[in-house]
Amino acid sequence: MREFNAVVLGAGGVGKSALTCRFIRNVFLEGYDPTIEEAYRRIVEIDGQMSQLEILDTAGAEQFTAINEFYIKSGMGFILVFSLTQESTLREVDNLRQQIYRIKGGPDPIPIVVVGTKSDLTAEREVQRATIEKLVNHWGLPFYETSAKKNWHVTDVFENLVRQMRER
Ligand code: GTP
Ligand code: MG
Repeated sequence: MREFNAVVLGAGGVGKSALTCRFIRNVFLEGYDPTIEEAYRRIVEIDGQMSQLEILDTAGAEQFTAINEFYIKSGMGFILVFSLTQESTLREVDNLRQQIYRIKGGPDPIPIVVVGTKSDLTAEREVQRATIEKLVNHWGLPFYETSAKKNWHVTDVFENLVRQMRER
């Protein structure tokens, strides 16, 4: 069985842990307990192929940027997370994206998925679909709007990333 590892990055409180726990355990983390670092493993079957997926859930990027370099070096694939309810967190995704390309460099494409979380909080939404679509098209990266609470498009994120990692 092939093994892949993915790193979940993004600003504090955007919903990285909630996304990861919804995927791993199919539960919603209602409370906010800032992460230091948490690793998860799951066997996934995608397109009839089994793989072992290790997911590293990291701390909000801004406080711990020095550690990010280490995560980026060790990661095969990346989930870059921002909250649709907080426009400023989108800039952090762009910073992380640029940091990944700087550190990983090379000719090979880097498996990345961009995720906008909390799509269920429609009244609090700050980032419009058109804004983010323009950006991700420019970056050439896949994008999903998710809700860990409602379990919307969570699986899509991880499946997309595994497919990208398989092709490498
Ligand atoms: P750090 O570990 O500090 O970097 O934060 P994080 O990115 O892991 O955020 P976390 O997953 O802990 O979520 C922060 C808060 O947002 C929690 O109270 C979650 O319940 C809430 N939250 C996360 N995802 C969603 C979602 O899809 N919908 C709603 N309504 N709330 C969410
Ligand atoms: Mg967390």
